[in-house]
Amino acid sequence: MIAVLGSANMDLVTEVARIPRPGETVAGESLRYYPGGKGANQAIAAARLGSAVAFFGKVGRDPFGDRLIQGLRADGVDVSAVARVEEFPTGTASIWVERTGENAIACVPGANGAVDAAYAARIFDRIAVADVLLLQFEIPLATIAFVLERLPKERPIVILDPAPAQSLSGLPLDRIDILTPNRTELSILTGIDGLEPAARRLLSLGVRGVVCKAGDQGAYWIGETTTHVPTMAVEVVDSTAAGDAFNGALGCAVTERSILEAIRFANAAGALATTKHGAQPSLPRRSEVDRLLAAVPSRPVGSPRSRG
Ligand code: RIB
Repeated sequence: MIAVLGSANMDLVTEVARIPRPGETVAGESLRYYPGGKGANQAIAAARLGSAVAFFGKVGRDPFGDRLIQGLRADGVDVSAVARVEEFPTGTASIWVERTGENAIACVPGANGAVDAAYAARIFDRIAVADVLLLQFEIPLATIAFVLERLPKERPIVILDPAPAQSLSGLPLDRIDILTPNRTELSILTGIDGLEPAARRLLSLGVRGVVCKAGDQGAYWIGETTTHVPTMAVEVVDSTAAGDAFNGALGCAVTERSILEAIRFANAAGALATTKHGAQPSLPRRSEVDRLLAAVPSRPVGSPRSRG
């Protein structure tokens, strides 16, 4: 079972020809509402790929909260421990998406900010028996620290997506099995520009392995060795939630195959998520990922060193 402790947001998505610069107004082309939030996205990604998934988090007592819970349930995610709160509205994310597929996001945490240590303590026993635990940084870091400090040493496998990037200080880094920053997050987290030296710095601080997500370049595994795992070329329309598709897929595959094969599987899920609009509507099903993997022969993954 995969446990996901994290955020759920309603995404308010405006399509624009170009993301506005500070002080600038641009004409939007459409406004759409899509269910999102990094935690809920990763839960649905893993469920669509065939995993049994339970989502833990909070939403408001409002129509956005209703819709997010319905969406998770429709994909078979266990939402029995999701809490509804009176004091805060459901989290929202304002997203601008350019025609190139690039995006910019501003989140208002709302109920996600109330996912506190007291809530984590209530659901802890369910998280601790999972095979894999997926975490992100859209809930308070103190809650993540609380959970990591109390987990058994070897189970569940912890995959932490440090997005949006925040300082890792205060987290027991040696309880993170796989940290999955993108290049920008890696550099913010470490203050180091090169991919490999930055990732190796995290390893020296205790993180057990780093997967750096590199968009259309695929991903890099930095463990004992550094390995580039290329991705598949697709027609990109919206990159929102591609990273979440990647993390959900990695969570699903990491118990089934080698780390490099799991990253290849996650690359395919991430690539497919960029071919459709919206966060949760874009998350692929197992059959789509299998088809893409079958269509693109597996390149032998040696260990070409990343130039960062
Ligand atoms: O990773 C994409 C997600 O980030 C969006 O769904 C949005 O809600 C923000 O949390």
